[in-house]
Amino acid sequence: MPAVRVPKERAESLKERLKKLGLYDGKRRPRRDGDSVLLPVIEDPGIEGLEVLPIDLPLRPERQIYVTLEDVLREKLSEEELRHLMRYDVIGDIAVVRIAPELEHRVEDIIGGLRKVHPFLKVIARKGFHSGPFRVGEYSVIWGENRLETVHRENGVEIKVDLGRVFFNPRMKGERYRLARLVRDGEKILIPFAGVLPYALVIARRKRVKITAVELNEEAYRLGLENLELNRKRLRGEVEFIHGDAFRILPELPTYDRVISPTPRGVDALSLTLSKAGRFLHYYDFVHEAKMGEFRGRIIEHCRKTGRDCDVRIKKVSDFKPHTFKVCADVHIKG
Ligand SMILES: C[S@@+](CC[C@H](N)C(=O)[O-])C[C@H]1O[C@@H](n2cnc3c(N)ncnc32)[C@H](O)[C@@H]1O
Repeated sequence: MPAVRVPKERAESLKERLKKLGLYDGKRRPRRDGDSVLLPVIEDPGIEGLEVLPIDLPLRPERQIYVTLEDVLREKLSEEELRHLMRYDVIGDIAVVRIAPELEHRVEDIIGGLRKVHPFLKVIARKGFHSGPFRVGEYSVIWGENRLETVHRENGVEIKVDLGRVFFNPRMKGERYRLARLVRDGEKILIPFAGVLPYALVIARRKRVKITAVELNEEAYRLGLENLELNRKRLRGEVEFIHGDAFRILPELPTYDRVISPTPRGVDALSLTLSKAGRFLHYYDFVHEAKMGEFRGRIIEHCRKTGRDCDVRIKKVSDFKPHTFKVCADVHIKG
């Protein structure tokens, strides 16, 4: 985790600003350094004039006692039971968990453990699977307030979500940061399947760009508009948001420097999105490890058919199921 160096007289105000951006790392201790203070941050906040140092400031002792859910549950669960513990997500003040059938009798312990590790939680929800064209997950609240709406902070932006009505995946945070770093000021970018606008917000926060985003789910569109308002003052770029079916709307649009396609699972939007990409396409899909070469070949063939020379790199983004990965094809169109 990095730290930022700030003059000591500005330390308090900057700390508050970093907290509002969700980038202050409260688990670590700030440190005096001559006339400066080193403030712990989760990532480079991208604030002009701030020096970012690759320093791991020490953890606060009180936070060291319980660091992970596994640490907390080690007191109560057997080694065998701990093996069935699944990864969970914290989205705003909601923890989202999957509980294996083997731990059904441990639900209360898991709730207690999550509350100990994340004392700010207001809701704990159990998650089923994503389904339907809008890829909305099934959730049931098992502790706390009866709601699935919250504001999540990521990469310096606030993202309002309603997990019962829209798709949102906090694990794509690093991917969004990666793309925001690849983008150059001045680009025109198209994002079909835009959801509540996480990619658009993270990119527009960092770069002076013009983004056109398209989303079919009316609830996601409505929340996306709210998110633009919520982040208005911190965005450098502009975002135009269109409500509608990408397959009908894209053919009417011009080409863009860059297209980012967070494609819904089971949808083939390759030729649609490639036809709108002037220089770069980032195409997400789910691919079996034995079919990576075939997937890459399909993209190259699409490029060839449309008279373009493309460089294609496939990046594994996350595990999806055994031997199948969520991947991003980074396509560079050279001619
Ligand atoms: C995998 S989610 C990605 C959402 C968002 N980009 C994100 O990363 O959180 C795919 C999104 O595409 C939307 N969608 C599905 N079919 C669509 C279509 N034909 N046109 C536009 N959006 C569509 C869904 O509602 C969903 O929000």
